[in-house]
Amino acid sequence: MLKRPKITVVGAGNVGATVAQYAALKELGDIVLTDIVEGVPQGKALDMQESAPVEGFDSLIIGTNSYEETAESDVIVITAGIARKPGMSRDDLVDTNVKVIRQVVKEVAPRSPDACFVLVTNPSDVMAQVAFRESGFAPERIIGLGGVLDSARFRTFIAQELKVSFEDVSAFVLGGHGDDMVPLARYSYVSGIPIDKLLDQATIDRLVQRARQGGAEIVNYLKTGSAYYAPGASIVAMVESIVKDKRRILPCSAYVTGQYGVNDLFLGVPVMLGKNGVEKIIEIELTDAERDALHKSADGVRHVLGKL
Ligand code: NAI
Ligand code: 2OP
Repeated sequence: MLKRPKITVVGAGNVGATVAQYAALKELGDIVLTDIVEGVPQGKALDMQESAPVEGFDSLIIGTNSYEETAESDVIVITAGIARKPGMSRDDLVDTNVKVIRQVVKEVAPRSPDACFVLVTNPSDVMAQVAFRESGFAPERIIGLGGVLDSARFRTFIAQELKVSFEDVSAFVLGGHGDDMVPLARYSYVSGIPIDKLLDQATIDRLVQRARQGGAEIVNYLKTGSAYYAPGASIVAMVESIVKDKRRILPCSAYVTGQYGVNDLFLGVPVMLGKNGVEKIIEIELTDAERDALHKSADGVRHVLGKL
């Protein structure tokens, strides 16, 4: 009999619970949702499970405060930690979240030695590096969230501006998941048509800037936390590509070893995501200005890492 993929989600807060729900709706596998707060993962998992007869999915969802149930996971999504509030940058979270990630990785890595990790907790490029160091895993099996979400925001704003279907817009945002991320307008299309054939430069610049500030825009509305629906959907797209070995090309934080002139750092680049995690890093040609922007973003990630 075929074994279903096992997906662990650490952190049953806004992002973690949304990931569990989207993954169950897509029947990507059985799901373990774990958190330190007693009752919350159990309650959310049971509530989600009770939606199964209505939604018609057969994924099992287990809520727990322990790590025993996470053993032999195929993918582990780590969302545990604190989220930012208005006025905070993602980097302001680093001191608290680095301790959480070290503790979580110590628990999950030995129990699931063949898993891929998807690092969500911010600052996610830095947390991917921490998870890499703590786990001893091959770098290909550690992937950070950033580019899929940032690109989704850029795609949304392009579609809204042009009043076209959201699904017809493709775009790439590279670099670290921070204020210096690099939206690549030159690699953004509507059904194969480059966006500079449809929008003037001033409009493109405005949409680029809004995409860069996309996380803060939501934080300023919510006030008590940060985005979770678009992040949840983005994470599930990554998980799906891994568990189904779809080999999608997605912008993710991956360990670069000289690609784009950057060494030994987790940074947002186009990757092929498959059953082994990062199957390949794709190098696309960049202009000098785009490359400089990517290096500035890499310097920002390195700066935060240097403080640890
Ligand atoms: P949240 O506060 O709703 O949930 C965080 C959960 O982590 C809480 O339930 C908390 O109890 C749990 N937690 C804390 N310490 C833990 C530990 N040691 N072990 C297990 N669980 C623990 O926050 P939310 O909105 O779910 O965000 C989670 C993280 O994801 C934040 O750091 C946020 O900045 C980040 N994030 C990153 C994105 C990205 O693109 N990289 C996108 C969206 C969120
Ligand atoms: C975002 O961009 C919180 O980093 C997260 O919404």
